[in-house]
Amino acid sequence: MPQRPQASRRPLVVAIDGPSGSGKSTVSRIVAGRLGLEYLDTGAMYRAVCWACLERGIDLADEPAVAEVARNLDLHVGTDPEAPFARVDGRDVSSQIRSTRVSATVSIVAANLAVRAELRRRQQEIIAAARQGPRHGVVAEGRDITTVVAPDADVRILLTASEGDRVARRAREVHGSDDDRALAATHDQVVRRDADDARVAQFFEAADGVLRLDSSGLSLAETVDAVLAAVAEHERTDGAEVVAGKGLLVELAAESVGAERVGAGRGA
Ligand code: DC
Repeated sequence: MPQRPQASRRPLVVAIDGPSGSGKSTVSRIVAGRLGLEYLDTGAMYRAVCWACLERGIDLADEPAVAEVARNLDLHVGTDPEAPFARVDGRDVSSQIRSTRVSATVSIVAANLAVRAELRRRQQEIIAAARQGPRHGVVAEGRDITTVVAPDADVRILLTASEGDRVARRAREVHGSDDDRALAATHDQVVRRDADDARVAQFFEAADGVLRLDSSGLSLAETVDAVLAAVAEHERTDGAEVVAGKGLLVELAAESVGAERVGAGRGA
């Protein structure tokens, strides 16, 4: 795995949030790999809690019961960007948590404030451990990462894209096509779920100090490069505000479409 230069191996936390289909999972995982950092997919933790509740026959609307599951869950998320996984009670549930059943209902779990408090606590612990760990840092992604979980991250990015681009990306991922039928089938998953999630986490607008990267019309490689440029600028300026990086991101976002599209991997 490529490593950052030794001279700059102080802890580094990169936080990336954004709506569904923005490409944040794919981009975060690649960036973590390129920088030799750990990778934290916080959405996988909400999905694992949802899956565990469904398995146990717990009504997702029963907020105290769902919160109890979250607090007691033996959940382990692997943070190697080459092979992320989610384990519940020692069992690998990485594919189960991506099922349609979980995707369709996880917003209910994500809207449970007691669950959010518990997962925030766990996520902050994972990030703190990663800072001290052998890779000296982490790329963490998820709806409230730049604002609530890691507001003091070294680099914070809101990855966005137009609604049309986001629905099309997700349609290609899930249905292998972005024809009219696939778009119609995907629209609800992206737009309705984001509307539901937006009730508890703000991820459409960049908070103060958060770089906004619009990946509409950018290839995956260009988006990854833009994030890496923001990180490089942070390291070059020794943690000062990434003002030049912001200009670069805006410039990159204005460029034309590349061959490889953001979201070629699994969901954002
Ligand atoms: O990114 P994803 O689709 O795997 O996220 C699963 C759900 O969890 C989705 O409803 C968004 C929500 N989520 C959240 O509310 N906060 C996070 N930090 C990560 C995900």
